[in-house]
Amino acid sequence: MKIAVLPGDGIGPEIVAQAVKVLEKLKAEGASIEMETAPIGGAGYDASGDPLPEATLRLAREADAVLLGAVGGPQYDTLDRPLRPERGLLRIRKELNLFANLRPALLYPELAGASSLKPEVVSGLDIMIVRELTGDVYFGQPRGIEVRNGERVGFNTMLYSESEVRRVAHVAFGIAMKRGRKLCSVEKANVLECSELWKEVMIEVAKDYPEVELSHMYVDNAAMQLIRAPKQFDTLVTGNIFGDILSDAASMLSGSIGMLPSASLDEHNKGMYEPIHGSAPDIAGKNLANPLATILSVAMMYRYTFADLATADRIEGAVKKVIAQGLRTGDIWTEGTQKVSCSEMGDAVVKSL
Ligand code: IPM
Ligand code: MG
Repeated sequence: MKIAVLPGDGIGPEIVAQAVKVLEKLKAEGASIEMETAPIGGAGYDASGDPLPEATLRLAREADAVLLGAVGGPQYDTLDRPLRPERGLLRIRKELNLFANLRPALLYPELAGASSLKPEVVSGLDIMIVRELTGDVYFGQPRGIEVRNGERVGFNTMLYSESEVRRVAHVAFGIAMKRGRKLCSVEKANVLECSELWKEVMIEVAKDYPEVELSHMYVDNAAMQLIRAPKQFDTLVTGNIFGDILSDAASMLSGSIGMLPSASLDEHNKGMYEPIHGSAPDIAGKNLANPLATILSVAMMYRYTFADLATADRIEGAVKKVIAQGLRTGDIWTEGTQKVSCSEMGDAVVKSL
């Protein structure tokens, strides 16, 4: 298996280094893994003037899976839009056709105290958010900023074709089948035509999955329900921008955004795996970041691309164990637990593997 390793910016290199330790450990045991590292985001821009250098894209195309850290940093915020780190990330998602983004929000019982919600509201939480990743207002044309009637206007286009909705619907129903067989489709069909079509296609696809109970919810209500009574959800499916927002909200239920991994898949289960959090420039280079979301992303790589569920379970088990041992990076630290650095956390996971 060939893995393209793209650390990116900010805390990206530190957290990816911990995930690579886990992969090295598996390799030392005999797993046939090949890793090659390349720059993306601001690092790509610094290296070759492009947030997605051609060589990086080529490597990612050739690889079986991609492991990504995070992109972005304040030093890049004034660059022309196409040169900004985030564009590199959006382009690689689009170029590799990674339309199905899986973002699980799971609460480890020991972290209930780190959540900003009451323990009884979040304990036992296990939600899967399926976010469409290559369409919507993120990519719709036209887009831009221009002068109309003597003032500047900014505009984007929210757009979904039925084939785009259908393919992510199939992924979401497939996942719901393996979970609690409850799928909630989130949109804003009371206002947006784009959402109206989304909902219609969801209802059509549901006919292929009679065992799954499909429900619909407007995104504003879904945001409220996620905070009010998150355990009512099993699997959620939604568009790109709603999924971006709701998955950040859901991350807080689990104690820290530093805990949430993600998988972005194409139709052949090739995938890019990354934590859902950003590059956290404020703590970059200080060995403070939580590497668990990235390590758990490697577990997802084993589960979805390598179809090696035993190893996926083993990595997740190792993470559970270090949490049970009371080891915590700053973001999930609570009174009475042991604060560790990013690299100490990585070492502990390797040890408990
Ligand atoms: C995410 C991030 C990205 C997104 C940004 C960095 C472009 O917020 O992966 O959720 O909006 O998709
Ligand atoms: Mg986001």
